[in-house]
Amino acid sequence: MGEWMTAGSLNDLWEGEMVAVELNAVPVVLCFVNGAVFAYEDRCPHLANPLSAGRLDEHALTCAAHEWAFDVRSGLGINPMEARLRGFPVRLDGETILVDMRPAGS
Ligand code: FES
Repeated sequence: MGEWMTAGSLNDLWEGEMVAVELNAVPVVLCFVNGAVFAYEDRCPHLANPLSAGRLDEHALTCAAHEWAFDVRSGLGINPMEARLRGFPVRLDGETILVDMRPAGS
């Protein structure tokens, strides 16, 4: 069973945008790309800068601190390629964005 939490509404997150939220005391960035919402820990795997302070260009999220870039469709690094974001499952209930904050493996 997941721990689905309400993270926001599609009325507040437009295609091509991202927004920072906090769920279970975890900073999360929501990205709306290609008609789908993706959720990641709002923490760069490089030196922990908030990813939501960066920029989203189509599917590429670039950290503002040192320009590491990630594909928000997969969470995988674009530069460097071996980097990876911590992602959370997302589902929609109408306009409501739900994120599963259950820790992986529990
Ligand atoms: S903290 Fe994100 S690229 Fe360095």
